[in-house]
Amino acid sequence: MSARYRENQVPSQVGKTAFVTGANTGIGFDTARVLAEKGARVLLGCRDEQRALKAMTAIRARAPRASLAWVELDLTSLASIRSASEQVLAEGQLDLLVNNAGVMVPPKTRTQDGFELQFGVNHLGHFALTGHLLPLLKQQPDARIVTVSSLAHRGGKIDFDDLQADRSYSRMKRYQMSKLANILFTLALSEKLAQAEFGLKAIACHPGGSNTELGRHLGPLKYLFLPLELIMNSSAEGALPTLRAATDPDAISGDYYGPAGWGEFARSAKRAVIDPAARDSQLWERLWQVSEGLTGVDFKL
Ligand SMILES: NC(=O)c1ccc[n+]([C@@H]2O[C@H](COP(=O)([O-])OP(=O)(O)OC[C@H]3O[C@@H](n4cnc5c(N)ncnc54)[C@H](OP(=O)(O)O)[C@@H]3O)[C@@H](O)[C@H]2O)c1
Repeated sequence: MSARYRENQVPSQVGKTAFVTGANTGIGFDTARVLAEKGARVLLGCRDEQRALKAMTAIRARAPRASLAWVELDLTSLASIRSASEQVLAEGQLDLLVNNAGVMVPPKTRTQDGFELQFGVNHLGHFALTGHLLPLLKQQPDARIVTVSSLAHRGGKIDFDDLQADRSYSRMKRYQMSKLANILFTLALSEKLAQAEFGLKAIACHPGGSNTELGRHLGPLKYLFLPLELIMNSSAEGALPTLRAATDPDAISGDYYGPAGWGEFARSAKRAVIDPAARDSQLWERLWQVSEGLTGVDFKL
């Protein structure tokens, strides 16, 4: 593998089926696009039909023979997550789940099930989705579950005393909490899969700073970030760590990939650094128990 990882290093995905959440734009779109170009059947988990169809048209413009399907998925609703899972389970095969969809620093909002939005969508929604899909993933011995975190996980804290931000709400702290939860979930899942002697891998990744629609809730603060756009990843570059986590034959369960450039901010993809505070197995386990309780999803692991 050359030092600078590129899209053309993604191996053939012919015969594989991938499900990518938030695939209509940004990192999820470029992840879905490359997987489809490499021959995978790609299921696009999106909440808006028109946006999903537009993304599928854009992928087919690059890969006319792409095998694509829209799966209606709204991560603010446990009922939607269950019905999306049923559609995916009916496919009969799943080799790759990419937990990518995300929301950053919105005003205080609740999901349809009453969870704080960032914790609910970014973590709990993907936790429930993964639990529902595990029986199908387990049938493929080399299947992978890739979860997209962020540099922002560093310094994040899980506020177990106020999980739904009933007492106080800091937009950025809640984003950090949700992205730390993505890492803790991956490490816990990796450990539990190994203990159960399942071969499938749980891997995390992050796209550094990438120019996508993620800043939609930043408001005027967006202008502060404008100079950064000069050095940021494009969405396609930002998808490289996800693609590497999803397809590199040398990736192992529990790995974490991010950009290869300075400070893991941009450029290409390599193994990245997890905040040492996240390597606390008691913390993983506590979050796992809480997540099972809140979502009602039992992984049976
Ligand atoms: N861009 C960065 O610099 C950066 C840095 C660190 C981490 N990340 C992570 O990368 C991932 C992708 O973000 P992005 O930068 O590509 O952002 P983006 O362009 O805003 O895309 C986010 C995707 O998530 C979907 N989504 C949001 N809420 C959803 C819900 N309730 N149900 C289903 N789908 C939902 C969006 O769908 P709609 O279009 O319908 O809203 C969209 O497809 C996120 O997990 C984010 O935290 C990004």
